[in-house]
Amino acid sequence: MKIREGRRNAALKASVNGSETSRNGKPDTVKQIEWKYSRSVEDPKHIKLDEKYDLYIGGKRVRTRKYFKTIDPSNEKILAEVAYASDEDVNRAVTAAKTAYEKHWSKTSPKERAKYIFRIARIMQEKAREFAVIETMNGGKPIRESKSVDVPLSIAHFFYYAGWADKLDLAFPGNKISPVGVAGQIIPWNFPLLMAAWKIAPALACGNTVVIKSAETTPLTLYKLAEVIEEAGLPPGVVNIISGDGRTGATLVNHPKVNKIAFTGSTEVGKIIMRQTAGTNKRLTLELGGKAANIIFEDAPIDAAVEGIINGIYFNQGHVCCAGSRLLVQESIHDAVVKKLKHRMKNLRVGDPLDKNTDVGAINSRVQLDKIRELVASGIDEGAVIHQCECTLPEKGFWFRPTFFTGVAQSNRIANEEIFGPVLSILTFRTPQEAVEKANNTCYGLSAGVWTDKGSKIFKVLSKIRAGVVWSNTFNKFNPASPFGGYKESGFGREGGRHGLTPYLNIES
Ligand code: NAI
Ligand code: MG
Repeated sequence: MKIREGRRNAALKASVNGSETSRNGKPDTVKQIEWKYSRSVEDPKHIKLDEKYDLYIGGKRVRTRKYFKTIDPSNEKILAEVAYASDEDVNRAVTAAKTAYEKHWSKTSPKERAKYIFRIARIMQEKAREFAVIETMNGGKPIRESKSVDVPLSIAHFFYYAGWADKLDLAFPGNKISPVGVAGQIIPWNFPLLMAAWKIAPALACGNTVVIKSAETTPLTLYKLAEVIEEAGLPPGVVNIISGDGRTGATLVNHPKVNKIAFTGSTEVGKIIMRQTAGTNKRLTLELGGKAANIIFEDAPIDAAVEGIINGIYFNQGHVCCAGSRLLVQESIHDAVVKKLKHRMKNLRVGDPLDKNTDVGAINSRVQLDKIRELVASGIDEGAVIHQCECTLPEKGFWFRPTFFTGVAQSNRIANEEIFGPVLSILTFRTPQEAVEKANNTCYGLSAGVWTDKGSKIFKVLSKIRAGVVWSNTFNKFNPASPFGGYKESGFGREGGRHGLTPYLNIES
């Protein structure tokens, strides 16, 4: 028996154990129906990856001494070799950016800058499918997400900031504004292309040039972006793309000719960068970790809230800085929510990231998998109750079952530390006041969510929560016009919206 399911356009196969409705119209007993999805794999054959990727500096491919292998975390197959930028290479890239700033970009009119950025967005649209497949192969995220979130949002950021390029004087009326100069940008592995767009688009719109470094495990979409930048005809050196590790990043941070650092990554490295830039003239924005509270009140639409919980924690395998990783449920509905969550979790499809029916893909790296395992083990040791999806996991690659913990205490590590994986900690509260106190009881302050039927409660509760981004009756929604960033150990500075222009401008009143 085959049925088409409209929403996902997927073929379902039902194996029926027992008989169906009999001829005389009387229902026979149907003992057990097991619904299975057929595979619907995005064909990666049209994707041409180079065997070796050089650095992209001064508009040219630049060879270096050392290369490292980059893999597909869902099957551990090697995808390509990628340049490891040495200190000399970083210097070369910064020098190229500085020269491009002085010779070309600072003399390019705002209107012309806008045209280049629009062009980047348009060419990315043409290559959207390639970007999505490469992002999924290199990072492990479901193709459904890279196609519907990462790539379109990245493009939207370029379009959005292209629009600002010739309107900066309107954004800051009465002020004298000028670009900062060379921006050094360091990004993580959870949203490689999107984080590159968040950083490159506003920098260019404001008239700066860029050196951007991809994360260890996910360099490939940035080199695809290099092709786009080349095709868009940007003057050489306006955007330089390099790959490497923490050492490469540190060299970029410490380079004297870099005027601004934009970093997204762990709080630990954020603190190091803050120390290294202290006492220099470098501008700094940090977008770091989080441990967001997702608060469900008893008057919330529970089924919608359960979808929000699932999206909040299992989107991108939970490798999301603003993930709703701490669920605060009002005590009166705790059991009902947990029951529905267990039921919903049974339907999550975990596996091949290129399969269009996959909900949860591969963990980005072995290192990250080990970190998740260690924190989950601490949750069990500290007495929380574990619930896991019973799915079969592929043999090769890095995988972790969607998981949630009940009976979590405030003091547990899983209630405080960023797990950065598909693991949810559930805590309870009785009053709105207690919800607010528990939500704020964290060193982080990036995001939060609240689910309730009452508009007044949304405003009352969210206004007391110290988080840069808040959602009501939804979660993990992004828009280029909306600023994003944190408080406390989640960092400072905003990306997106008009706010996202300020880190890339000198503004004098
Ligand atoms: P990380 O912070 O070490 O890496 C992020 C980026 O910073 C990478 O491009 C890396 O090469 C670079 N980097 C590392 N050390 C540096 C240094 N000293 N100076 C300049 N750049 C440096 O994050 P990692 O090790 O990949 O992940 C560790 C944990 O951090 C994760 O388990 C997760 O909890 C958190 N994390 C949070 C992210 C977020 O978006 N908030 C993103 C990535 C990781
Ligand atoms: Mg690290």
